[in-house]
Amino acid sequence: MAKIISLLNKKGGVGKTTTTVHIASRLADMGYKTLIIDADVSQGNATLHLMGEIWNAKEHTPGLGSVFIEGRPLNKVIYNTDRENLFIIPSEKFNKMGESYNLDMILSNFGPKGYFSFKKLIEKSGLSEKLDYILFDLPPSLGLSVSAALIASDYVLIPFKVDDFSKNAVVDTVKTVLEIKEDYNEKLEILGAFVSQNDRRNRTNNKMIEEARVLFKEAGTEILEAMIPVYNKMTVLPRERKTVFDIKGAKVESINSYIDLTDEILEKINTHQGSMISGKRTEITLGAR
Ligand SMILES: Nc1ncnc2c1ncn2[C@@H]1O[C@H](COP(=O)(O)OP(=O)(O)OP(=O)(O)O)[C@@H](O)[C@H]1O
Ligand SMILES: [Mg+2]
Repeated sequence: MAKIISLLNKKGGVGKTTTTVHIASRLADMGYKTLIIDADVSQGNATLHLMGEIWNAKEHTPGLGSVFIEGRPLNKVIYNTDRENLFIIPSEKFNKMGESYNLDMILSNFGPKGYFSFKKLIEKSGLSEKLDYILFDLPPSLGLSVSAALIASDYVLIPFKVDDFSKNAVVDTVKTVLEIKEDYNEKLEILGAFVSQNDRRNRTNNKMIEEARVLFKEAGTEILEAMIPVYNKMTVLPRERKTVFDIKGAKVESINSYIDLTDEILEKINTHQGSMISGKRTEITLGAR
């Protein structure tokens, strides 16, 4: 069964899309069949990063919008990317008439069922059996489409930048995730928050990270050890449909940071899965007594 991970922070521009694309690329390079669902329909940045030309083509490319409006099955809107093992369900900014989609509004038309839409669609598609990981790239909000992704997810990762706005947004984000866990999806686990653009030359950085550590612990999560350094070529990578793994002369530190982050995530998932299995075993032993 695929593990489903939502990358989320209600603050914009904190590296959700960039890390989604890089973690997914690393998982794919490790041989895991990985799918990105670009649920940030109004921006479609993951789609732009991985499918640039198709996205820009005049021809209409069906994606998430067609799923919700036309009832197209999820597995009919999966596309290959340039990378082996990496697939994408693109956002679909505009419908056939050239009008823009608003996913929160579309889902609200479904009433309470809107919350369970992603969960139902994924279950119905059978994709979970064919894939190893599904990553949701989400908009900078805590709206209905984000709730629907969280209800369909097993895990949450929270990227943040080392500034007060971004830190406070993590606290609100954790609160929302814990509410969803309590009300709709008890298996949902926060893997942690991580620094997505670490500028070590900034002398106040370490102090701010330590402050964040205390703040996040109170809120209910921790900061992962792996930190992604600021890399000044990052902004031009989407234009070339590339990641730091694909360009000559990319900073080794940058490449390694995404490898370390992915390893840390996998280790956390494995530990969690292991504890679930051993929890089950304990129950059986107790029952036998
Ligand atoms: N490690 C990094 N070093 C330098 N720039 C980065 C790094 N990570 C991301 N960026 C840049 O920061 C900007 C915001 O990143 P990104 O689009 O991934 O954030 P986001 O959280 O998905 O934003 P949004 O909320 O708008 O969807 C982009 O221009 C991206 O290229
Ligand atoms: Mg984004």
